[in-house]
Amino acid sequence: MRIKDLVVNPPTFLSPMAGLTDSVFRRLIKRLGGCGLVMTEFTSAEGLTRNSLKSQRMLFYHEEERPVTAQLFGADPFRLAEATRMVEDLGFDAIDLNLGCPAKKVVKACGGSALLRESKLLEEILKTMRAATTLPFTIKIRAGWSETEIVSVQVGKMAQDIGINAIALHPRTRVQGFSGHSDWNLIGQLKAALNIPVIGNGDIVTPEDAFRMKRETGCDGVMIGRGALSNPWIFRQIGEREHGVAAPQLGVTEKYQLIKSYFQLLFEEETPGAIGKMKQFASWFTHAIPHGAALRKSIYESGTESEVMERIETFFQTALASLEDVDPRVSVA
Ligand SMILES: Cc1cc2nc3c(=O)[nH]c(=O)nc-3n(C[C@H](O)[C@H](O)[C@H](O)COP(=O)(O)O)c2cc1C
Repeated sequence: MRIKDLVVNPPTFLSPMAGLTDSVFRRLIKRLGGCGLVMTEFTSAEGLTRNSLKSQRMLFYHEEERPVTAQLFGADPFRLAEATRMVEDLGFDAIDLNLGCPAKKVVKACGGSALLRESKLLEEILKTMRAATTLPFTIKIRAGWSETEIVSVQVGKMAQDIGINAIALHPRTRVQGFSGHSDWNLIGQLKAALNIPVIGNGDIVTPEDAFRMKRETGCDGVMIGRGALSNPWIFRQIGEREHGVAAPQLGVTEKYQLIKSYFQLLFEEETPGAIGKMKQFASWFTHAIPHGAALRKSIYESGTESEVMERIETFFQTALASLEDVDPRVSVA
């Protein structure tokens, strides 16, 4: 799949998820294989252009992540254009504008999904940003503000006319938040209406879901968020299935190794707030393992990073020892 002159191969995307898909997590996903493009967490154009350290940190990436997109949010065309130039100077492969965030703070300032109801302002923003860069430029949208204001095709056509190079659609409304289901029919409608690539997003939790979305909507690529948190191997499994290889069952050993590599990377990077991330990550990866609930409780009570590490080590060593006599590849996925 091509986004302007950027080749995305395979056409699989890791969803940006604020607080979760930092550089360390993105690298972990890339190392597992099968993910064609990763994106930064959404970054405030206001913050960036006012030299906020937090916003600058959000745009940290590693060469290993390429191709990598920077995602911006904001509502001021001139700040967004300035931030776009900064993103280009930082060497990103592409830039994305967030038009989906439902958070009150963002929406109140007219950013994220609020722009889906402000078509004049949105048009000005897209034109100003487009003029500011030659980078591949994408947008990531929700379907609209509410059920009675579905604007994905309308926004898609406008964006295409302005020269935006691809669109990712999460077909829920702002009002919906994360409730209910995403309506994949809207992805099919957008694909049918546009010539630029359409990336389908929403509720893909298994490799089969990804194939079904492609089949049912004709989308050019798939973007996976929450499904990749509990199963970071999902991208590799999609590739394996595509090539007719039966995806191996992932067991306790693989989960243990993944947790260890994640912690290792966090330590190497001296990531701020590492302990919170360790707790979060450990909790995703211990579901469906016997006694996982007790471990999660004890991890949440840990006061230091090394304490978390010790509890994880003890837990997995015990879990593995008890499985040795049974089946070393007992599935916990
Ligand atoms: C915790 C969390 C943080 C998110 N942060 C962002 C973000 O920074 N930018 C964005 O475009 N979407 C963000 N999203 C939305 C996801 O990228 C994605 O569109 C949504 O979760 C639907 O895909 P999924 O069903 O595969 O998770 C976030 C979602 C979650 C759950």
